Amino acid sequence: MYRTHYSNQITEELNGQKVKVAGWVYEVKDLGGIKFLWIRDREGIIQVTAPKKKVDQELFKLIPKLNAEDVVAVEGIVNFTPKAKLGFEILPEKLEVLSRAQTPLPLDPTGKIKAELDTRLDNRFMDLRRPEVMAIFKIRSSVFKAVRDFFHSEGFVEVHTPKIIATATEGGTELFPMKYFEEDAFLAQSPQLYKQMIMASGLDRVYEIAPIFRAEEHNTTRHLNEAWSIDAEMAFIESEEEVMNLLERLVAHTVNYIREHNERELKTLDFELEEPKLPFRRVTYTEALEILSDLGKEIPWGEDIDTEGEKLLGQYIKENYNEDLYFLYQYPSEAKPFYIMKYEDKPEISKSFDLEYRGIEITSGGQREHRYDVLKAQIAEKGLNPESFEFYLKPFRYGMPPHGGFGLGAERLIKQMLNLGNIREVILFPRDRKRLTP
Ligand code: AMO
Repeated sequence: MYRTHYSNQITEELNGQKVKVAGWVYEVKDLGGIKFLWIRDREGIIQVTAPKKKVDQELFKLIPKLNAEDVVAVEGIVNFTPKAKLGFEILPEKLEVLSRAQTPLPLDPTGKIKAELDTRLDNRFMDLRRPEVMAIFKIRSSVFKAVRDFFHSEGFVEVHTPKIIATATEGGTELFPMKYFEEDAFLAQSPQLYKQMIMASGLDRVYEIAPIFRAEEHNTTRHLNEAWSIDAEMAFIESEEEVMNLLERLVAHTVNYIREHNERELKTLDFELEEPKLPFRRVTYTEALEILSDLGKEIPWGEDIDTEGEKLLGQYIKENYNEDLYFLYQYPSEAKPFYIMKYEDKPEISKSFDLEYRGIEITSGGQREHRYDVLKAQIAEKGLNPESFEFYLKPFRYGMPPHGGFGLGAERLIKQMLNLGNIREVILFPRDRKRLTP
């Protein structure tokens, strides 16, 4: 390996010892008799100091010829000294150029010259060389670790369901069609039907982390055409409240995990992440409409709460209770998909919920209708043909326990957790209306 240590692993105990470091040229300074080279790696910056009298002459001459962003490897002796800006320097014995960077660069990786998001995404490999951008993806990685740890500690089994499917799961629109040999198929909008079918198998607490595909035409700061969904489904529940309880603990665990394990990255982002208060506030759909009406926004009962309404509610909850996370629940049945259970005594209301984070929906979920006849009727009620759902309906005829679950959008969660302006910031290579490469 060209590297024995990352920059942050060079500690005082290594003083006087030989190490190998490697990375991208951050800066070069030529003071005549002494030359400096700063190398950037994933974790920070390393200073290489080359005094003329103490180093190999070929190496000495090579330093000023380096371009910003060349890839180099240095072998040398660690020297802790207050003279070095970072507290230590490397006195080089060997310097190797592993790859040259052309000039000019497509964008400034130091961030001094600001670039538009589109330019950044077109040159994502270089955009990621900025510590603030890399910090987001280190946090993203921790989010997935925290989520997996949580599910396993709660007795959930990780499953993987097909992404090439025959029917829509979330209503008829927003599907990417594809050819599957002689048949028409689609990219999965969600694992909804499959995670429910698994509930009839005995594997009664499952989760899946996978991409979802949505052919949404609109270009917004909160929609992607390919997003990552954290899905859960659990059986033997008595109400949707049990699912909400699991979800709020999952989100609180994840936020707290980031607070604990990503202190450096949060500092790089100059962001203070607050500890969520459990339990999250529960606001019914009807109460939400009343709050909005008091704020001067009228939404007729039955209609979805639009983006502006969501934002107003988020502000209201923040101002009145100082909370960022809350549930909106008991939506009208007509606003929710066929698989959601209705209240027995009030069928116009469904056992559904959304979780909101800083005024944006990050999760939908609910208790499912597990009674075959009722489910079949609900499919027809939504204008869909139960025959095309036969593979899904079949398990409901052979012992399907009551169940419920949720779909938590990973990008929405990370965007809202870090209070970022655009969902594209939190996915490496976003797929949106105009973006199919890189
Ligand atoms: P829903 O369609 O509300 O519910 O999606 C669940 C969550 O997935 C995320 N999400 C998206 N994120 C980015 N871009 C998109 N285009 C996008 N679409 C959805 C959101 C959303 O809250 N099957 C149900 C879930 C369930 O009941 O289990 C479903 O898919 O964060």
